[in-house]
Amino acid sequence: MSRDSLTTGEAASNALTAHADRLRDAGLASLAAAPSRGDRLVREGAGLRLDASRQLVDGDALDDLIALATAADLPGAARDLLAGAEVNNTERRPALHSLLRAGRSDDARFPAVAETRERMRDLAESIRAGAHTGHTGRAITDVVNIGIGGSDLGPRLVSEALAAPDTAPRAHYAANVDPDDLAGTLAALDPATTLFVICSKSFRTEETLANALAARRWLQGGGVADSGLARHCLAVTTNLEAAADFGIPENQCLPMWDWVGGRYSVWSAVGLSCAITLGWDRFAALLAGAEAMDAHFASAAPADNLPMLLALLETWNCQYLGAGNHVVLPYSHRLRRLPDFLQQLTMESNGKAVTRDGEPLGTDSAPVLWGSAGTIGQHSFHQLLHQGTRRCPADILLPLAPTDPADRENHARLIANGLAQSRALVIGRSQAEARDALLARGEDPAEADRLAPHLAMPGNRPHNLITFSRLTPETLGALLALYEHRTYCSAVLWGINAFDQWGVELGKEIGKQVFAVMQGDDEGAALDAGTLSLVALWKSANG
Ligand code: F6P
Repeated sequence: MSRDSLTTGEAASNALTAHADRLRDAGLASLAAAPSRGDRLVREGAGLRLDASRQLVDGDALDDLIALATAADLPGAARDLLAGAEVNNTERRPALHSLLRAGRSDDARFPAVAETRERMRDLAESIRAGAHTGHTGRAITDVVNIGIGGSDLGPRLVSEALAAPDTAPRAHYAANVDPDDLAGTLAALDPATTLFVICSKSFRTEETLANALAARRWLQGGGVADSGLARHCLAVTTNLEAAADFGIPENQCLPMWDWVGGRYSVWSAVGLSCAITLGWDRFAALLAGAEAMDAHFASAAPADNLPMLLALLETWNCQYLGAGNHVVLPYSHRLRRLPDFLQQLTMESNGKAVTRDGEPLGTDSAPVLWGSAGTIGQHSFHQLLHQGTRRCPADILLPLAPTDPADRENHARLIANGLAQSRALVIGRSQAEARDALLARGEDPAEADRLAPHLAMPGNRPHNLITFSRLTPETLGALLALYEHRTYCSAVLWGINAFDQWGVELGKEIGKQVFAVMQGDDEGAALDAGTLSLVALWKSANG
């Protein structure tokens, strides 16, 4: 950042601190009702519409947020990301997941991308057509993706969002090393017609390797001879050597590359289970939707740029208004996995306390992200959203038309619920209004006085409304790319690296030590007394 832009950034930041003091408790209902509010706070791109008019911002605050974006050079950062600059500075590599989207995978610098996409398409089509069969010659009916984190959450979300209930082959996902996960997945499947896709960028992830071994035992126990295993096991990895050591030779592996982060990898061969269950055309449409969002991200000015606006509002809510969390409420059963996916994307990318240069950040970074499908959450945690002491900025997502046009009536109820929650979050209800409502329903005045404080709701709860015409491969691709770029822009605004995840390593190392102690292989390990006493309890529970 140049000296001038640093000064501009500091000035914008100071102004935003003052705006936050002014706007924190400004009535959102009156702010949101201001004429022409949508002129600056409603924007569209790649088939998505962002309505940010229910955020605690006014024109002056928005001006300074845009000044912050300019000072941080978000447009330059977008160019760097998309051009393959070394944005992941700790691991000295680019983050080129955008290269994998439609149209860009033919980049001459990365010929393996186009080649891998062809292999993915051929495999998906031949499995769907019943040409690639199991060892007995029967068609594959079920594909089980074994992976965890980014090797699970993205493909699981995409296939659950887009697959029809009668889709064939069906896709299943097993991630947890808890044996109940894989056992539950396999209970209804037939080894002769099941294909495993073992997804692991590193091919070193303990949970995935343990589940892959268990899957192989299940195949063998189900009558698949060693010579037939190749028809039932594929792998997706950067580590062809480790896959070969495991027993999956190179010709059964689809490559990934170190410049694709795990949580950004659904666009790569990690999406193979989706391509098999959805068919290639729909998978390609997902990529095309993401590419449309890349184009919007690359070209729209910050004030019109959906990922940049979302990042600015995230920074505004977290850093200036002090919200430590963010709740995601998709009014779409098919998008019920979106909060899980966004948890990894947001918190693994931006849950950091040092800058790119290793200096203490000095401010809060990623919010704790949570959520669930509307209307499920309304009957569970929305009480806290409306009356709790914590403010929970939200994204409410609404596909405006149902997946199946025959379902119009109940879908209309779903959307009415989403819109009603949004309005209630904004307007709340004063004690006087609560008292009037109680009187109107026949309570006597003393009872109305007693209950009114319990029924009052502060309102003033900021959120975004993200809408799209219907959930299609294109809109889903655009939505996931929107959140990916939002996450990157937030990282740029905070000055952190969104593409490493060193914080997960220590737990893995200690996990190996504890396991060795449990197996009696490392009695000398320096574990604390509390952990050792729990290991002793584990031993006695297991005879
Ligand atoms: O431990 C975290 C993590 O490395 C994630 O970043 C990644 O998505 C997940 O584990 C799985 O890793 P892999 O694909 O290498 O098995």
